[in-house]
Amino acid sequence: MTSASDWQGGVGRNWAAEWERTDRTFAALTPDLLRAIAAEPGAKVVDIGCGAGEIALAVARDRPAAQVVGVDISAELVETAMTRAEGLANLSFTVADAASWIAPGGAPDLYVSRHGVMFFEDPPAAFAHLARRAAPGARMVFSCFRSVSENTWATEIRELLPPAKPVAADPFAPGPFAFADPDHVRRCLKGWRDVTFRKLDFAYVAGTGTNPVADALSLLSRIGPAAAAIRTLPDNARPAFERGLLELVQSRHVGGRVCFPAAAWLVSAAADNA
Ligand SMILES: C[S@@+](CC[C@H](N)C(=O)[O-])C[C@H]1O[C@@H](n2cnc3c(N)ncnc32)[C@H](O)[C@@H]1O
Repeated sequence: MTSASDWQGGVGRNWAAEWERTDRTFAALTPDLLRAIAAEPGAKVVDIGCGAGEIALAVARDRPAAQVVGVDISAELVETAMTRAEGLANLSFTVADAASWIAPGGAPDLYVSRHGVMFFEDPPAAFAHLARRAAPGARMVFSCFRSVSENTWATEIRELLPPAKPVAADPFAPGPFAFADPDHVRRCLKGWRDVTFRKLDFAYVAGTGTNPVADALSLLSRIGPAAAAIRTLPDNARPAFERGLLELVQSRHVGGRVCFPAAAWLVSAAADNA
């Protein structure tokens, strides 16, 4: 689970510090998402959970006549996004919970998000709010991870963890895999119709450069499930985990990059408010 307070605290801070490398982990997915966004009309565009702003920036550059707003709950990420947006008059960023935020410049006609919507604490309420506040028939396009088992970057790291007592975890709790199940996503999309899902398989690029293994290790030690394990494992279990992580990263080092198979949904919908 990754809660709003995680994003407002250390998780958001780490993502802000690592924005270039987190953008890179999505580099093989982003062009497909941007093509899907480009196919939609929209003059008031909102990027939900915009993070350091790569998608909002791309949309603002692509649509100079549109007003684009990136909304994120992490002040550090919004600050980072703002520094990247200098000189783009049609782009702004704001710190807010997108689940209850009201766009000041009129009703949005296009919502976009790269992996930002599966962290809502109450997704049906959040999507119903977004639909109520949207222009009639507004469109939405977002990406989210498919199941853990299809996302090798996560399963291979989890396999390195020492066996733990099984706990009954809620598969739909806010987090990277909360929107893996399309039936659940459909149930969450209150106020939205014509929901479609397209599979996108992509390479999660963890390491590049002169020493891709060291690059991947330092990123994974700061972001995602390995970082969480390093923070929380007892001292006597951490060295074995770190050794396993090194071996895993070495095994995924091919052709000057460290990559893991990753799997996402590209979801689109229309607001049922016309
Ligand atoms: C996995 S990151 C993706 C960030 C960005 N979209 C990207 O692709 O780099 C998820 C983002 O959603 C944001 N977020 C989580 N819950 C949110 C909420 N209720 N309202 C706005 N942003 C939220 C987080 O702060 C974080 O920046």
